[in-house]
Amino acid sequence: MPGDAERHRALVNVFGETARLAGFGHVITPIFEDLGVFKRLGESTDVVNKEMYDFVAKDGNHYALRPELTASVVRAFVQHRPAVPWKVWYEGPQFRYERPQAGRYRQFFQIGVEALGTDDPALDAEVIALAWHFYAALGLRNITLLLNSLGDPTCRPAYLVALTDYFDTRRTELSEQSQHTLQVNPLRVLDSKRPQDQAIIDEAPVMVDHLSPETGEHFAGVRSVLDRLEVPYDISPRLVRGLDYYTRTTFEFASHALDGAQNALGGGGRYDALASDLGGPETPGIGFALGVDRILLACDAEGVFPAGAEVADVFIIDVTGGTEAAVLQRTMQSAGIASQRAYDARSMKAQFRAADKSGAQIAVVIGDDEVASGTITIRPLMGENRDQVTVDSATLVDELQTRLSTSG
Ligand code: HAM
Repeated sequence: MPGDAERHRALVNVFGETARLAGFGHVITPIFEDLGVFKRLGESTDVVNKEMYDFVAKDGNHYALRPELTASVVRAFVQHRPAVPWKVWYEGPQFRYERPQAGRYRQFFQIGVEALGTDDPALDAEVIALAWHFYAALGLRNITLLLNSLGDPTCRPAYLVALTDYFDTRRTELSEQSQHTLQVNPLRVLDSKRPQDQAIIDEAPVMVDHLSPETGEHFAGVRSVLDRLEVPYDISPRLVRGLDYYTRTTFEFASHALDGAQNALGGGGRYDALASDLGGPETPGIGFALGVDRILLACDAEGVFPAGAEVADVFIIDVTGGTEAAVLQRTMQSAGIASQRAYDARSMKAQFRAADKSGAQIAVVIGDDEVASGTITIRPLMGENRDQVTVDSATLVDELQTRLSTSG
């Protein structure tokens, strides 16, 4: 509805401006794409297996509503081959068939960035810091940045063996679901929130202890730039993300102001193999997506970034029948002054009542006398001095702009 929608748009505008200043161009990708694009998110993930809205269209092709944007953006990169580094930001609705609850919806809105073409650790830090400073710009304070490295193809396989061996020794203690997950993707067992699994997970080997020298150095590079940028983080060695494309740096932003299950305000990481998986040249990439719906819930909980009521500057009162109001509205629009009016040739009294309710600062009144003399009457609706003045209609816009700028 309008108040909330204005707030949503204002948030997206703050994000777009933050990203633009950091050198990110805007990219727009389709709402639905070939199912194959999204299968790259991982056949064993819930997003692909359980949550995709997919359908066979009249052309016989299998499509899906996008559950996220990284795969689409990388698909666009592979298709158009722009020069690298390619840095883009995006916004839009995503679709996941989940059980709806506060902060978890089937259609939800994300903002995010993707940056392809270099694995410079400074880029990882730049991307993470961008999200961090965006939250701060909204006024959010109760956020923790959780940081991890998920290794790469040189070191993750050995870690997976160690992890599987460990879980195998404690298999019978794990929940039934985690025993099943273990067979498909041992890493995802670390993501279990079931109480029964927690003690076992807490003692599991962690990827950061198994990083190859190069991956370890990369991770240290990311951390040192974050330190230099004064972005605080917690190393979270059991952080795994719900999508399979991640390599090396991964991160999530958790709000302390929201309920545990829905407290992830955003997350992201590197996906150095995704472009080649989608048929393009090997191109490293990193990005994040933030959930707008949840960020707004966190803003409510922290009492920041309030919804601004969209109020008109001026209310037009026309007691000649209504046509003059139509002309004045057009004049206001082209002068950048927001106006409202009444309809149905209502009485002057009724129109003034509507003007008072509207929240507008000034009423402009046009009646037969004003039409005859080429003037308009201005009456302040707020403040101490509510005396009305009559001005030449040619000077109306100037007069209003002066009054509106001085009233702030
Ligand atoms: P994700 O963690 O699946 O990552 O989603 C990012 C954020 O979207 C979440 O932290 C959450 O705030 C929001 N979100 C996810 N599902 C829902 C839902 N059902 N209702 C409301 N909000 C939701 C990604 O989507 C990756 N594409 C991020 C990324 C970009 N990685 C690299 N680049």
